[in-house]
Amino acid sequence: MNRERSARLESIYRCMAHTVEKKPATTVVGAGFGDEGKGKVIDLLCRFFKIVARFSGGANAGHTAWLDNKRKLVTHLLPSGLGQSKTCVLGRGVFFDTDGFFRELEDAKKVLRGKIPPIHVDQQCPLWTPWHRLFEAFLEGVKGTNKINTTGRAIGPLAALNALRAGLHVGELFGDEKRLINHLRELREALLPSFHDMVASGLMATNDVPKAQTVAEQLLSKARFLEPLVCDTSYLMHEALRGGQSILFEGAQALGLDLLWGTYPFVSAGMSTAAGAPYGTGLPLTDFGPVILVAKLFPTRVGAGGFPSELWDRELAEAFPKRRSELFVAGRARNQFLAKTLLRIKSGKGTNADLAQYLQVLGYERGATTGRGRSVGMMDIPWHQYSIRVNGPLFLVLTRLDMASGLEKIPVVTTYRYKGQRIPAGQILEPWNMDQIEPVVEYWEGWSEDISGCQIEDELPRKARQFLGKLEDALEVPILLVGTGAPRDAVMLRLDGLAQLPG
Ligand code: IMP
Repeated sequence: MNRERSARLESIYRCMAHTVEKKPATTVVGAGFGDEGKGKVIDLLCRFFKIVARFSGGANAGHTAWLDNKRKLVTHLLPSGLGQSKTCVLGRGVFFDTDGFFRELEDAKKVLRGKIPPIHVDQQCPLWTPWHRLFEAFLEGVKGTNKINTTGRAIGPLAALNALRAGLHVGELFGDEKRLINHLRELREALLPSFHDMVASGLMATNDVPKAQTVAEQLLSKARFLEPLVCDTSYLMHEALRGGQSILFEGAQALGLDLLWGTYPFVSAGMSTAAGAPYGTGLPLTDFGPVILVAKLFPTRVGAGGFPSELWDRELAEAFPKRRSELFVAGRARNQFLAKTLLRIKSGKGTNADLAQYLQVLGYERGATTGRGRSVGMMDIPWHQYSIRVNGPLFLVLTRLDMASGLEKIPVVTTYRYKGQRIPAGQILEPWNMDQIEPVVEYWEGWSEDISGCQIEDELPRKARQFLGKLEDALEVPILLVGTGAPRDAVMLRLDGLAQLPG
């Protein structure tokens, strides 16, 4: 990063400091269906906080932070604050996978050259076992049209078995071994009929179902390393706040994937709204300060489920990076594809599928956890109005504005209609009726200049500034930060947004 750019980034930091520094507990959540770039936002903001804490989800998340132009840190279970040497906490609402945790830690050690900050794991995080994974395979296997296409991290079974009071918790690894094995046996017994069914239908062999003793040995082999990290994190964070330390709460997934408020049943099994932060950490509501909502200019979705602004077929989009892998690595094939497709779009002959493919390739829209292609949608105002209503953000971060450069017309869903009637702003339809939504699309004026890496609002083309202003007016929440590319410093502070903040 050159000196001028880092000085500009510093001034962004100074402005942000006024906005969040005096608020000891700030929560960052995703507005759409995940992959909005929360990792980058947390990476940017966490310098004002002592602790970064997760309150939900598990190893199904995929946060990418660029530490510099070469070093990329991808976290799934660990908080994104890891890259900035912040104390990291996995609150009680997080589903814990011991193997995944240590694998991630080893990778992080390499990227961070051994500099791992303190990490705390709650003693009552629901604990992953290989049976949870098998049970998820069973559930997905028996489903037809309701198959979710999960990330395969057994999030649903972890949540469900916990709710059935059949699951285990991390802290049980450090107590009486006989008690642990007994508890594991009971869990295995409860799941055995499903496993028999899988064996009978040829989905797996009998000896694919590990015995309780084997699972206990596997889990206990890591217990010695884990034990020093495990505690009552609710108390730890309570004490930290009382001692004047500040905490940034890192959301996982996004509203559309929240168990209660997302597009059920095509959701994850955790809490992805800001309200999940107090519940998943055991801190009182009164401790919480502002919510920051992260939205992607062109939202994306993987797996199944409603996506009213979607541009192309979900299955084709998911398979696209595998079918055309050459387009997802920097090089001639990719550049030619992008140039040719953009030309077609600009000529007016391009279809929605062309635009979807163009945006998918341009944004490297491929899952960090699963490698599946992400299906791309249009900026969707009604969805974001719903997300704003449920999350109550102080401001928005709009990521990936640079992706619109070159599009003469940017499609924006301005309202939803259902059976010819406008759905009131802030409402969406029941998930089982979501495919009945008729999105009303307007084409907003775009700009031709490349804005990648732009840090200064004044340097944005006039039409880009107008686009942001119009979007902000429609959403009625200030857009304070705007992402203009993948690198850490590719971000812009909007003074217009700053002027609209209360106080
Ligand atoms: P699960 O969380 O693995 O149970 O998956 C449930 C649904 O949420 C699937 O459609 C996943 O693709 C989706 N999902 C889970 N985590 C993420 C994420 O971090 N980004 C995007 N989609 C996700």
